[in-house]
Parts: sequence; structure tokens; C-alpha cells
Amino acid sequence: MRIRQCLWLCLMTIVVGCNIFPSFVITPPAPNMSTVVGGLSNTDPFFGTYRLANAPNVVVGDFLLGSCGCGDWRVLFRPTDGGPQVQFPVQFYTNGEYSPFGDVLVHGSTDYNVAGGMAHQDEGFFEGKAELALARYTMSGNRGDAHLLAVDACGMCHIGEDSIWPLPPTHPQKYKTNPRVCFECHSANGQ
Ligand code: HEC
Ligand code: HEC
Repeated sequence: MRIRQCLWLCLMTIVVGCNIFPSFVITPPAPNMSTVVGGLSNTDPFFGTYRLANAPNVVVGDFLLGSCGCGDWRVLFRPTDGGPQVQFPVQFYTNGEYSPFGDVLVHGSTDYNVAGGMAHQDEGFFEGKAELALARYTMSGNRGDAHLLAVDACGMCHIGEDSIWPLPPTHPQKYKTNPRVCFECHSANGQ
């Protein structure tokens, strides 16, 4: 029993120890920053990948930062190995008044997950870090500038076997033949 406890303790020390990476800080918004109501003025989503924080060459899956028809912006982590997807809302923060140019801080969290980073609006680039159920990742994404890409983002969360928010059976069925039809009836910013 003793040995088992000791082994367990050693294992935990290694696991916890390895995770305390001094450079791994997900910067929360400073108290004097203001929240950007409604999010970025350009609602085109950022598509990219997320990787292991301590092995940046190892791509874990697809990453998406996108606005949702529900009115908020969300991050989506979709592992390549088919494991469960993770998504949650994020907010944007600026020093002073929001401008559609320059850098905007992104931050969001749930009970077990936190993500944060910087949206470089001029370059159309996002980079950040995330801790999902204690595992640490870095992620980045480029803004898709095509209307079609924005629609593809909707499908990533709303269509498919393992979708995050499946469309109810009462929903218009047009999307079953054309998954890019969403903007006929919805918008990217919930209007
Ligand atoms: C990162 C995942 C994600 C993406 C991308 C996404 N959604 Fe959503 N969407 C959700 C979730 C989760 C909900 C449920 C929100 C809630 O009620 O908490 C939702 C809710 C909605 C709703 C219902 C709102 C309401 O008030 O009932 C609409 C409409 C919607 N989404 C449309 C869209 C459209 C259109 C797009 C593409 C521009 C989109 N979504 C992209 C995750 C996403
Ligand atoms: C022909 C019009 C039409 C199209 C096209 C359409 N929707 Fe909808 N959608 C609606 C209507 C109407 C509702 C509300 C009725 C309902 O909930 O059944 C709705 C509701 C929703 C909801 C809320 C469902 C809930 O749980 O209450 C989501 C999410 C959503 N749509 C996403 C999408 C996405 C993603 C697409 C594209 C793949 C899409 N819609 C395409 C008309 C449309």
C-alpha cells in the first residue's frame, strides 16, 4: 500500500511539476480594460490549429475563433484523433475605446478550461494559449476573409454527428443539401 501511494505521489509530482511551465501564462484582462461589446467589428472567423504547449510541433487538432449566431464569440478545439470537442465563449478587451484596428485581448473561461490571446486585427491573425482540463496548448489562426469561410464555421459547431449544438429536428432542412445556406436566414452576429 505504502509503495503504491508513494508511486502515485511521484507520478503526481511529475505531472504537476511538468505542467508548471514558467512561461505559460494566460493573461487575464487588467481590471481597467473595457469589454468590447459584441466583439470584433470584422466577424470573419479565425481558422487554425492548436498544439501541445511543450511540443509546438505536435498539432493536436483544429482551432476556430468565430462569432456565433447566438451573439457571442466562441473558441472551438476539435482534436484530430476524434476525441470530444471543446468550445466556450470568449470576450474581447481593450485599453480605452475599441477600434477596428490594432490588437485586442481575447479571454474566456469555463470551470475546467481557459483560453486567451491576442487578435491582431490588421494582420488578421490570432495567437494564444489554452488550458483545457489541465492540459496546455498554444494555438493560432488566420482570419478567413471569404464569406464562405464564415459559413463553414457555423457548420463546425452546428452540423454533424458530434456537433456542439445540433440543430433541432424542427429546424428548416435546407442545410442538409447545402451546409452553406445559413446566412439566408441568420447572420454572423446574432441579428
Ligand atoms: C464555436 C462554436 C459555434 C460556432 C462557430 C457557431 N455557433 Fe451558433 N451556437 C453555438 C452554441 C454553443 C449555441 C448555444 C448558445 C447558448 O444558448 O448558450 C449556439 C446558438 C446559436 C443560435 C441560437 C441562438 C438563440 O438565441 O437561440 C443560432 C441562430 C446560431 N447559433 C447560429 C450560428 C451561425 C449562423 C453561426 C455561423 C456564423 C454559428 N452559430 C457559429 C456554437 C457555435
Ligand atoms: C430557411 C431559413 C434557415 C436556414 C437556411 C437556416 N436556419 Fe437556422 N433557424 C431558422 C429558424 C426559423 C430557426 C428558429 C426555429 C427553430 O428553432 O426550429 C432557426 C434556429 C436555429 C438555431 C437555434 C436552434 C435551437 O436550438 O433553438 C440554430 C443554432 C441555427 N438555426 C443554426 C443554423 C445554421 C448553423 C444554419 C446553416 C447550416 C442554419 N441555421 C440555416 C431558419 C434557418
